[in-house]
Amino acid sequence: MNVPVNTPVFNGNEKKYLMDCIDTGWISSAGMYIEKFEKGMAELVGQKYGVAVSNGTTALETAVLALNLSKGSEVILPDFTIISCVQAIVKAGLIPVLVDCTEDTWNLDVSKIEEKITEKTKAIMVVHIYGLPVDMDPVWALAKKYNLLVIEDAAEAHGLTYRGRQCGGLGDISIFSFFPNKHITSGEGGMVMTSNDAFYERAKQVRNLFFDSERRYIHSEFGNNFRMTNIQAAIGLAQLEQIDKTVVRKREIGGYYQEVLSDIDDIQLPVARTEYADNIYWVFGIVLRDPERKADELMNKLSERGIGTRHFFYPIHKQPALIKEGCCSLEQLADSQFSNSNYISEHGFYIPSGLGLTLDEQKYVVDELKKLL
Ligand SMILES: Cc1ncc(COP(=O)(O)O)c(C=O)c1O
Repeated sequence: MNVPVNTPVFNGNEKKYLMDCIDTGWISSAGMYIEKFEKGMAELVGQKYGVAVSNGTTALETAVLALNLSKGSEVILPDFTIISCVQAIVKAGLIPVLVDCTEDTWNLDVSKIEEKITEKTKAIMVVHIYGLPVDMDPVWALAKKYNLLVIEDAAEAHGLTYRGRQCGGLGDISIFSFFPNKHITSGEGGMVMTSNDAFYERAKQVRNLFFDSERRYIHSEFGNNFRMTNIQAAIGLAQLEQIDKTVVRKREIGGYYQEVLSDIDDIQLPVARTEYADNIYWVFGIVLRDPERKADELMNKLSERGIGTRHFFYPIHKQPALIKEGCCSLEQLADSQFSNSNYISEHGFYIPSGLGLTLDEQKYVVDELKKLL
């Protein structure tokens, strides 16, 4: 049997909306699907605005630039995340300050943020990891105490709630990715969400080369072409219409794994529930408890059996690109501070959990995994 790590599903209005783009000729970054998708996402998360962009990485860059922080300001972020987060900070001329994750939720350890705050700190970037949100109450309390902005990376968190509030609506500025492994996909795509008028206006400028609104081809700053196309938004909108069903289905997939894998002592499973959230299992992660066993070993054996897996993220403090950039002091990157992030990145991986996964495929994955463990 061949079980890919993810298979996207298109069983809503995707084809109809796509055909409409082609029939009407609206295929670039102007068109009604962009507006509808932006409005729909803003409504879903309870923010005033959405700014559709080309992917989650450019959404992060747009969000950070929209805040217009002075060069050299510090932004706190988790060590266990994707490179896009730190890259957005560094490219904006800001200094990343890394914090370890917790052992169980794999999310930013909020109890370790305050010790990293200095006079230069201007923002905290939270990243909801693998289907469970960051504990936001302590983050908001620190943001208020030290007058910091909250940047929320909800790239993996469509339909996830924190104490009943939708992720993507929890930051001064927030972002989504719509890559095909996400709960809402547009092929490639991303969106910046905010309720702040100034951030919204600047995000639109960053996305579109800072075109002067009065006289085209005059540009007050260097910007980017980060625009999403109407074609992408057409698919995204159709996917957004299905988000409630998607979340139910993902919880079903995750719930099944939890039930049948919970008796294996050798592996740590995702936290199903905390006092502030229920996991939506964007992916289903597994961490090997035996320090002698590396994720690679098991991933290779699963691959030989036709089962797709993916590594966990690699710790940011060890990223060659960051070290080369030289923007962090060696003290800031000291390995001993990041023991949880180090451990899970070496011993963690995720197994198939895409929307297209069948029960037979899931049973096969579980059987093979149990044999190997
Ligand atoms: C937490 C997080 N942020 C940002 C991104 C970047 O999104 P994209 O792949 O659309 O550039 C990803 C990608 O999966 C992600 O997981």
